[in-house]
Amino acid sequence: MSESASAPGSHDPLPRFLDWLADARARKLPEPSAMALATVSPDGAPSVRMVLLKHADEHGFVFYTNLESPKAAALRARPEAELCFYWNPPGRQVRIHGTVTAVTDAEADAYFASRPYLSRVGAWASEQSRPLPSALALPRRVAEFTLRFAASVPRPPHWSGFRLAPTSVEFWEEKPYRLHERIVHRRASAGWTATPLYP
Ligand SMILES: Cc1cc2nc3c(=O)[nH]c(=O)nc-3n(C[C@H](O)[C@H](O)[C@H](O)COP(=O)(O)O)c2cc1C
Repeated sequence: MSESASAPGSHDPLPRFLDWLADARARKLPEPSAMALATVSPDGAPSVRMVLLKHADEHGFVFYTNLESPKAAALRARPEAELCFYWNPPGRQVRIHGTVTAVTDAEADAYFASRPYLSRVGAWASEQSRPLPSALALPRRVAEFTLRFAASVPRPPHWSGFRLAPTSVEFWEEKPYRLHERIVHRRASAGWTATPLYP
């Protein structure tokens, strides 16, 4: 994924988030950019699943998915979500709450084009979260779309990304005797506030 730091601000949570992500990568943790994405359906039912962070900057946190999936339907109906990262070691959690918008077509096209060929074919082949009629249905669709898009694979109209613009970011760091360190940053009218919390 790509990322860029925003202008320095005393309580801007982005630089610390990027430091912690870089630390998780340097430790060679499996899937350091994996995050739980929690959504709420229009009738109030919570739902959570893992997705991969693909970009983070001062505008927000970007992930990609099938637009016909349950998570995409939930986000369109109620564009508010929470992300949660956990890296261990060193024992760190980051929770990010915010509002969600669709990324632009140009942004989705650029990221889609950077994916390996079979991942691009897979985005056409998978009817994400729909019932799989038989074990052969998926390999058959992969074969079909491989033939159809032998030369180049366009981005499917049902595949794009979402950007979560944070309204709060909470850092949690493991400390001895459960005296863990927590601090919540909240977006204010001008910049960010930071409030330590009991663990
Ligand atoms: C580590 C990990 C990373 C994943 N990354 C993505 C992702 O970036 N996008 C995605 O659509 N699904 C991803 N998935 C699959 C989702 O967790 C989920 O099964 C799928 O998107 C269907 O979710 P939904 O039915 O709630 O829409 C990932 C799963 C795991 C375990």
